[in-house]
Amino acid sequence: MGGEPIKRVGIVGSGIMGSGLAEVAAKAGCEVIVRSRSRASAEALVAGLTKSLGRQVEKGKLTGVDRDDVLGRVSATDHLGALVDCDLVIESVVEDLAVKKALFAELEQVIQAHAILATNTSTFPVVDLAVQTQRPDRVCGLHFFNPAPVMRLVEIVRPLTASDDTVDALKAFAIGCDKEPVVVADRAGFVVNALLFPYLNNAVRMLESGTASMEDIDTAMQGGCNFPMGPFALLDLVGLDTSVAILDALYEEFRDPNYAAVPTLRRMVAAGHVGRKAGKGFYAYGR
Ligand SMILES: NC(=O)c1ccc[n+]([C@@H]2O[C@H](COP(=O)([O-])OP(=O)(O)OC[C@H]3O[C@@H](n4cnc5c(N)ncnc54)[C@H](O)[C@@H]3O)[C@@H](O)[C@H]2O)c1
Repeated sequence: MGGEPIKRVGIVGSGIMGSGLAEVAAKAGCEVIVRSRSRASAEALVAGLTKSLGRQVEKGKLTGVDRDDVLGRVSATDHLGALVDCDLVIESVVEDLAVKKALFAELEQVIQAHAILATNTSTFPVVDLAVQTQRPDRVCGLHFFNPAPVMRLVEIVRPLTASDDTVDALKAFAIGCDKEPVVVADRAGFVVNALLFPYLNNAVRMLESGTASMEDIDTAMQGGCNFPMGPFALLDLVGLDTSVAILDALYEEFRDPNYAAVPTLRRMVAAGHVGRKAGKGFYAYGR
């Protein structure tokens, strides 16, 4: 493997995944700087992380000293230029290809020549982002799962343009974060979402056809497959907006009807019932 280990990590986006990634990378000993579009959301991310680590101390999963060390390694900014010294920048903003492309072109102007640019996209072709930059050999997908501090898998998505050194550096980074990396070709949905989303989509179809209630479908899949949660609880956790974006990207690539998002999902997104993060999705959540 070539190059120095990754020590300073930039994260762009402070939503569900951005905050989880900040915790993961800081716990792995990296200096982490999170860029959010507003000062207020950058500060909210640090406040959320402080609370989450505090709960881990209360439960005896983390010492007070470790919490302070982790927090001491995380800073937040609303200024993209602050990522200048990062060895790795992980983009984790809204699942919208145009937004991500524009961001990659902007990041290219900010970061140094040696730095790797990664995307946490769930479905988009990584090569489309790589070609926005002058460093397509140092662009890869780095797909974490939700919640990032808990889920062990990381899909390293290798576009045709990526170098072996880049893939090796990201494998080492993922292992350093106590994750289990798998290397996947640059196909929509990679491994997990390509197999998972037809199941989630068909669960909504099954509900609509009256086979069983939402609660009973969730209970059946938990008890019958030993899944930690059923499909409706999982859709709420992922976010229905993100889920529709993932299905649309899968359908665009493969034209398989199993990937065509059922209308109910789109209507719920239009209504703002996008899941846990909105306090309401298939289930209601106290906020
Ligand atoms: N939610 C999941 O389960 C999950 C799992 C793995 C990967 N991902 C991927 O991670 C990425 C982020 O998803 P999330 O679940 O954290 O979403 P989220 O809705 O929680 O957060 C999205 C973030 O993007 C920012 N944003 C929105 N519009 C923007 C714009 N025009 N320019 C810049 N930033 C903008 C928001 O302010 C927010 O910080 C997506 O690519 C998603 O596919 C999500």
